[in-house]
Amino acid sequence: MNYEEASKVLKANGQEHLLQFWVRLDRNTQSSLLEQIAAIDFREVERCQAMLKGAPADAGSPKKGNPTAPRVSELHGAELRAAIAAGEAELAAGRVGVLLVAGGQGSRLGFDGPKGAYPIGPITGAPLFYFHARKVLALSRRYNTHIPLYVMTSQANNADTVAHFEKHGWYGLDKRDVIFFAQGMWPGMTADGKIILDAPGHVFMSPDGHGGMLSALKANGCFEDMRRRGVKTLFYFQVDNPLVNVAEPAFIGIHTLDKSEYSLKLCAKRSPREGLGMVVRRNGHFDMIEYTEMTAEMNNRRTADGDLYFKYGSPAIHVFDREFLEKEAAKDMPLHLAHKKIAAIDRAGRKVAPSEPNGYKFEKFIFDILPDAKRVTCVAFDRRDEFAPVKNADGKDSPASCRDALRAKWRRQLAEIHIAVPATMPLEIDPAAMYDGRDILNNGFLLRNA
Ligand code: UD1
Repeated sequence: MNYEEASKVLKANGQEHLLQFWVRLDRNTQSSLLEQIAAIDFREVERCQAMLKGAPADAGSPKKGNPTAPRVSELHGAELRAAIAAGEAELAAGRVGVLLVAGGQGSRLGFDGPKGAYPIGPITGAPLFYFHARKVLALSRRYNTHIPLYVMTSQANNADTVAHFEKHGWYGLDKRDVIFFAQGMWPGMTADGKIILDAPGHVFMSPDGHGGMLSALKANGCFEDMRRRGVKTLFYFQVDNPLVNVAEPAFIGIHTLDKSEYSLKLCAKRSPREGLGMVVRRNGHFDMIEYTEMTAEMNNRRTADGDLYFKYGSPAIHVFDREFLEKEAAKDMPLHLAHKKIAAIDRAGRKVAPSEPNGYKFEKFIFDILPDAKRVTCVAFDRRDEFAPVKNADGKDSPASCRDALRAKWRRQLAEIHIAVPATMPLEIDPAAMYDGRDILNNGFLLRNA
């Protein structure tokens, strides 16, 4: 795209101000600005503008109506055994892939780098990525198969993430089975729909949310890669939770047996106001209400026997049918607005740090495809076994609470196979050696302790 072409597109879309400092820019900045403008999808910009004017975020989706709690099953006995067998068959046949959303940075934890590189191992300081990748390796070995790991990065961390995996030898995985794809970026806007410049020759852009995964999978040829490999089922999870049982056979299996398009693991909330998304049913569809949108009445509603009515929150552990994701990738997803302080430039081109929110970022959430799923399975699990996210620097959901949860889980797993580990003993287990207790019986005693 050259200056004339950019100028024409911008004029047609009421965004001519993006070139107002053109003559002041050096050649390199001019060409990178043109590249940024060429990458902007003005059809999406129009959707953002419509939202700023107050069009409902959920246009076209059945978000109205009274939400009720969904049926949530627990797997036990014969049902659990059947689910495990079905999941193992899928894994062994190479029909399972793993999707890891890791577009975030570690900044909230005071860590400079991709969040997945954050050191979490209680003894070794092994990074979050290690715990995820080594579980994929454990199952690949156990079922003598290839499980492709699709890692969604962002422009901010793509190069660092790829370098991280390279430095660590892809954590033992075949490098061809680790596929990185960067999510899209969207321009920020002022309330009147004008795209924000954060420097005279630079448009302010932010990642398009984990819902951006669908367009990014499509744009990067990942669906084709999945088809080529024969992958039909995708296990999805977030980078911040090293407790997760990646591609757990029982979960894959129940999804397959139920012929579901979208399955969710859910756990009992710690307290009525805990910040977890809530799966609901309304107008005959499943849907997710984000915790910021739950009313106090909904959070506190009780059943006749005193239980929370909306009891189960979503730890963002899902299984998707690949064909369902492909169909959804062809549709527009709802947009979510975040009103933020964005350091923009003034009329003279000087950067100004605002004291109040002055602009909007736009995001898509993956769970907004839930209402389109014809078959949905919700499975409850014990959060002690699978959910200890690292979100805050201290207190709840911090590195310290996560390490405690990891150690406690390993101790329980070892206790199940009659290995008692005192609570005070330092403990760390390589998930490639022990995905669960079954591996330790097969592989021998592979404890790492200090
Ligand atoms: C999220 C979920 C919430 C769920 C909780 C469980 C949203 C909006 N809410 O909350 O329903 O109960 O996790 O822990 O997601 N990410 C990207 N690209 C982006 C944005 C996020 O890859 O543009 C990734 C992050 O790296 C992270 C995950 O998505 O792995 C979640 O994002 P985060 O902003 O931490 O969500 P939460 O508010 O914790």
